[in-house]
Amino acid sequence: MSGTFRGFYINQNEGGIEQEIKSVSLSELAPHEVLIRVHFSSLNYKDALSANGNKGVTRKFPHIPGIDAAGVVERSSNAQITAGSLVLVTGYDLGMNTWGGFGEYISVPASWVIPLPAELSLLEAMSFGTAGFTAGMSVDKIVEAGINPSDGPIVVSGATGGVGSMSIAILSQLGFDVCAVTGKPDQAFLHNIVGAKSVMQREAFFEKYNSKPLSSADFAAGIDTVGGEMLSSMLKSVKHQGVVTSCGHVSSPELHTSVFPFILRGVTLAGIDSAEAKHALRVKIWNNLATIWKPKYLGEMVQEIDLNHLADKLDELLQGKAKGRYVLRH
Ligand SMILES: NC(=O)c1ccc[n+]([C@@H]2O[C@H](COP(=O)([O-])OP(=O)(O)OC[C@H]3O[C@@H](n4cnc5c(N)ncnc54)[C@H](OP(=O)(O)O)[C@@H]3O)[C@@H](O)[C@H]2O)c1
Repeated sequence: MSGTFRGFYINQNEGGIEQEIKSVSLSELAPHEVLIRVHFSSLNYKDALSANGNKGVTRKFPHIPGIDAAGVVERSSNAQITAGSLVLVTGYDLGMNTWGGFGEYISVPASWVIPLPAELSLLEAMSFGTAGFTAGMSVDKIVEAGINPSDGPIVVSGATGGVGSMSIAILSQLGFDVCAVTGKPDQAFLHNIVGAKSVMQREAFFEKYNSKPLSSADFAAGIDTVGGEMLSSMLKSVKHQGVVTSCGHVSSPELHTSVFPFILRGVTLAGIDSAEAKHALRVKIWNNLATIWKPKYLGEMVQEIDLNHLADKLDELLQGKAKGRYVLRH
């Protein structure tokens, strides 16, 4: 392949990790079936880990991170995917050890490619990105369990983060009352834009729900994005036949719990793995995100940035300071 493209290029040398915006030859991309001109990507916690050399995410350097990409097919050797079509790719190995959406081009296997739903723009697709898709998978677990708005409020942790804010916005779009649990003092974003009905500070949540083996059953279900004490508290706070989803570990990968939520309240702990979600589930979730789940204020939850702002925003994510979602426009 001839030609070059710009990307956020990560290299590793004796001095540690080096990040630079660089022009790279298209021939350096792995020779997969589909070449995509990326118009938008988005920032996720995992990208911040990859860009800082976390070996649990990326082992091979040099590397271009970006677990999300949306754009136009430039070339394809797969009959189902035609040049010129609008597509999105999230998860699998994208941005991990396969060069990702922080470059203007990606080359991926055909099985990773999802056609962009007609009701979604490329920008909207990346406003959701992996965070929105993971939120969608979490909401799907709750809805598929038969839980509906009349069963009571849903609690969501990491509320101002990507997965947390998207989960609240989707649930609120579906008519659920949501209690947002956050470590940040400012509540206006959560109430006015994301759509939370109530907001609780993280420490107050622990105090109320983590002191006894079971606490008052105040929620129909929970979406936990941070792990550790938050997940164990949440398990104690949901009603009979409730569902608690677990997708993240920004607080801790540990889970200390008794069996009481499971054997006395029939609570289900549902794991979420968006990276390896099956194709049919992906299509279902993206179609819902494009239509009945699309939040009213999706545009306001997102800030657009370019390659020059990427390093600073990834640092914000690592420090837990980000609010809402960042979309990268190429
Ligand atoms: N399993 C999957 O498929 C999957 C997919 C996507 C993401 N994830 C994981 O889900 C987690 C969240 O991802 P994200 O993209 O939403 O990240 P994010 O945008 O960085 O949001 C994380 C949020 O967690 C809260 N937080 C930060 N530090 C915390 C701490 N020490 N204790 C408790 N809460 C803390 C903060 O919100 P508040 O200040 O509002 O509390 C922060 O904004 C990450 O662990 C990520 O790797 C997993």
